[in-house]
Amino acid sequence: MRTLELAGVNVPVIGQGTWRMGEDHARHAEEVAALRLGIELGMTLIDTAEMYAEGGAEEVVGEAIADQRDKVFLVSKVYPHNAGRKGIPQACERSLRRLNTDYIDLYLLHWRGQYPLEETVDAFERLREDGKIGRWGVSNFDVDDLQELASPACATNQVLYNLEERGIEFDLLPWCQRHRQPLMAYCPIGQGGALLAHPTLNQVAARHGVTPAQVALAWILRQDGVIAIPKAVRPEHVHLNAQAMQLRLEAGDLEALDQAFRAPQRKQRLAMV
Ligand SMILES: NC(=O)c1ccc[n+]([C@@H]2O[C@H](COP(=O)([O-])OP(=O)(O)OC[C@H]3O[C@@H](n4cnc5c(N)ncnc54)[C@H](OP(=O)(O)O)[C@@H]3O)[C@@H](O)[C@H]2O)c1
Repeated sequence: MRTLELAGVNVPVIGQGTWRMGEDHARHAEEVAALRLGIELGMTLIDTAEMYAEGGAEEVVGEAIADQRDKVFLVSKVYPHNAGRKGIPQACERSLRRLNTDYIDLYLLHWRGQYPLEETVDAFERLREDGKIGRWGVSNFDVDDLQELASPACATNQVLYNLEERGIEFDLLPWCQRHRQPLMAYCPIGQGGALLAHPTLNQVAARHGVTPAQVALAWILRQDGVIAIPKAVRPEHVHLNAQAMQLRLEAGDLEALDQAFRAPQRKQRLAMV
């Protein structure tokens, strides 16, 4: 598994998302097994949030990592309405309990809310000094938000990025690359929706004998400083995602994909889901 350096640690460029996990108890064992399989295959970065199933996804993660905490780079996120001086330590404690661990490797502000950024950063720094988190970062921040934050301690920005949503290529992605701040791409395979049926994506996939989702992941990972966090519960999806690392797209593939999915020509509002 290829890795990149994120605030002092090497992390795999393909991790595992967990949105929609923990919502249905009947799928609990399957979800735990999927994350464990992913870890075994090298996708040891796991992304979760207190928001997902209102803590349910963190509980799934907690069970998946219980006997292998040291193998995993754990990312969780705090709700903006909990991101104040008092709320952050309390939210972090609740997440730690559900995750069944005593530290989170990377703790993110899920999106900007009503609290001043300085207050959130102060609270993050205090958690870091107390050893509750290893480092902190943000999510759904555009260039102006990052400029206002102006903190080299911010370890990452997690944003929507896939072939259908290329807006960040105009300014945000180059900004992060210039500042050596790894960017985490969420919904990298378009939530398994219409993107995967696109004819051009399917043609490129057929040329390489791989699946459209693997092309979508390889397309993101062709760039420096980018991590993709696909979510997969079906074991065959977990295997395919881990293997996507090996796929090298050629100039002709990239041209075809550029024709089908246009790169932005001007500033676009940051897309979110
Ligand atoms: N920071 C934020 O605001 C934010 C927002 C959205 C998401 N996220 C994070 O990013 C993660 C990924 O985004 P996402 O879950 O919304 O969407 P996604 O990863 O783009 O897509 C997930 C969907 O694709 C399917 N899938 C996975 N691998 C596949 C493959 N190889 N072939 C075909 N289908 C495949 C999954 O099915 P199965 O599960 O059935 O295998 C699932 O239905 C989330 O889980 C979450 O951790 C963060």
